[in-house]
Amino acid sequence: MSALLEVNDLHVYFDTPQGVVRANNGVSLQVQEGESLGIMGESGCGKTVLFLALLRLQQPGRIVSGSVVFDKQDITRLSESEVERIRGRDIALVPQNHATALNPAYTVRQQLAEAMSVRDHGGSVRTLFRLNRRTADGAASDEVRRVFRDLGFTDDRLLARLLQSYPHELSGGMRQRVLLAMGLLLEPRVLVADEPTTALDRATRAQSLEMLRKLNGKLTMLVVSHDLQAIENTCSRVAVMYAGRIVECGPVREVLREPRHPYSRLLIAAQSRTRGVPLADVFTDTSDLIEFPSGCPFHPICSQAMPQCSDEQPLEHRVNDVSVSCHLYGGEGAPC
Ligand SMILES: Nc1ncnc2c1ncn2[C@@H]1O[C@H](COP(=O)(O)OP(=O)(O)O)[C@@H](O)[C@H]1O
Ligand code: SF4
Ligand SMILES: [Mg+2]
Repeated sequence: MSALLEVNDLHVYFDTPQGVVRANNGVSLQVQEGESLGIMGESGCGKTVLFLALLRLQQPGRIVSGSVVFDKQDITRLSESEVERIRGRDIALVPQNHATALNPAYTVRQQLAEAMSVRDHGGSVRTLFRLNRRTADGAASDEVRRVFRDLGFTDDRLLARLLQSYPHELSGGMRQRVLLAMGLLLEPRVLVADEPTTALDRATRAQSLEMLRKLNGKLTMLVVSHDLQAIENTCSRVAVMYAGRIVECGPVREVLREPRHPYSRLLIAAQSRTRGVPLADVFTDTSDLIEFPSGCPFHPICSQAMPQCSDEQPLEHRVNDVSVSCHLYGGEGAPC
């Protein structure tokens, strides 16, 4: 079965005064229709850049090589107007930065109405964030009410007030729910959610996760989260990212219970201890994405590094249903 979305050896670089930042340095992954894939990795490893590159929104970064094949079309090779047709209706992004993603000049109602207009009549999804027309005010449509109810917003009076609000009047958690609602109202074939629950309080987070869990199997999803429980509850597979590459990928329960890659083990143990708090530069810093060590980029801090690790970049190996990029699984070294 061919994948609905396939990323092949994707390289996305940023030119900075300090040097070239290789934010995605050979990312490969596949997502089947109806599947939800979680992506984990510490802060700065390239998750957001990957999600933006799926929609060709990675500027000022440049896609240097590789492909992003959605429904048999390579997005990296399409014209801008062709990509514009895919954004929003085929692939919708729930962006990480809720503080700036909504347009400060328009009410929540106007921005949700624009999302539905893009879905029903086409148009540029960029207008979602740069509205240029006014939308009539009125009662919340049944559709909007249903989506917000699913996101745990059950009081109609509060919903009416929310819809009349401007983004700066809302808390971070509320803005995050509006962005999630907007993504869901677009009814995309693929929903790409970049840390969709980090600003939410515990109860609201549980409701939003429950909604994402219910969508598992109905919608194709890619979800970045620091929350192991969120990944376990909402995703069928998980990919672990380190220094701009996927180092391990497989069924969620297998990877979370028995991580194979030494970095996955460290990350999962650390995230269990910090209970989903984003890990900022615990094992790397940005300079690592400019000056990569030779061989396996994890070798300077890997407790299981072998002589070949500093010379040879590890290939991908299969262990049961899991793929792992590590020399421990190459046949010579025994898996531990
Ligand atoms: N506009 C930019 N200019 C330079 N470097 C950038 C830019 N955006 C992201 N990066 C770098 O790309 C790397 C990956 O960033 P990002 O994908 O945002 O990480 P995360 O995994 O936390 O989402 C980081 O080193 C970051 O500093
Ligand atoms: S390839 Fe070597 S250095 Fe890299 S994670 Fe595996 S054992 Fe550690
Ligand atoms: Mg990010």
